[in-house]
Amino acid sequence: MDNPSKITEGGVEYSLGKFDGKSVLYDFDKILIYLDAKGKLLFGKQFRIYDEDTVIIRKLCHYFIKDKENCLKDDIDTNKGILLSGPVGCGKTTLMKLLRYIVPMQRPYEMIPCRNVAFSFNHLGFKTIEDYGSTKFYCFDDLGIEPAGRFYGKDLNVMGEVLLSRYELYLETKHKVKTHATTNLNAEELEERYGNRVRSRMRELFNLIAFDTKAGDKRK
Ligand SMILES: Nc1ncnc2c1ncn2[C@@H]1O[C@H](COP(=O)(O)OP(=O)(O)OP(=O)(O)O)[C@@H](O)[C@H]1O
Ligand SMILES: [Mg+2]
Repeated sequence: MDNPSKITEGGVEYSLGKFDGKSVLYDFDKILIYLDAKGKLLFGKQFRIYDEDTVIIRKLCHYFIKDKENCLKDDIDTNKGILLSGPVGCGKTTLMKLLRYIVPMQRPYEMIPCRNVAFSFNHLGFKTIEDYGSTKFYCFDDLGIEPAGRFYGKDLNVMGEVLLSRYELYLETKHKVKTHATTNLNAEELEERYGNRVRSRMRELFNLIAFDTKAGDKRK
């Protein structure tokens, strides 16, 4: 890719800003035009950028394009991953699926529903923890509402173990491994679900970006 500021979708070229031959000077309004178009392609013509979501989208953009100055203002560490929290249906999964397209040159992350990780554990046991503890990048979708794992009569808090493994990896690889997640739970609920050891490591692993607790359900 010669010019990372330009992305072509369905024969239309979108510009996300200016490229000086070394780096891209991103233009947020242009990114929004691209996200609106790409969102419609991925999710259907009813997709749109909601005005009330632009604060969150702007933060996510700063993070993904590694805008140092704005990340500092937003209190975002680009070494860490993103934990996107918010009420049911506010658009968390949609945004995490969409935002990765603005940085096609970055290593992509795979969206994995946490329920699937728990079910996988029930079939395969500890191999699942190993598999998701790999250096691949993941976004664990719907953290905290997955069923408990059970393998040959042994109970396990599967996502808790996966997060512990990924935290170890994050330290070992000098912060190069990315883990993202979406969740409906707040900090206290996460601690209740996973315990304070996991919760403490989650603070190191993730930047928290939170929708307003009153954010509307886009399914309605
Ligand atoms: N920007 C948008 N424009 C139009 N529809 C949207 C938008 N964002 C999300 N939706 C729709 O709203 C519904 C909920 O979105 P999504 O699944 O992303 O929410 P969520 O926050 O992940 O919900 P949950 O907490 O239940 O996992 C989906 O049907 C999705 O297509
Ligand atoms: Mg979701």
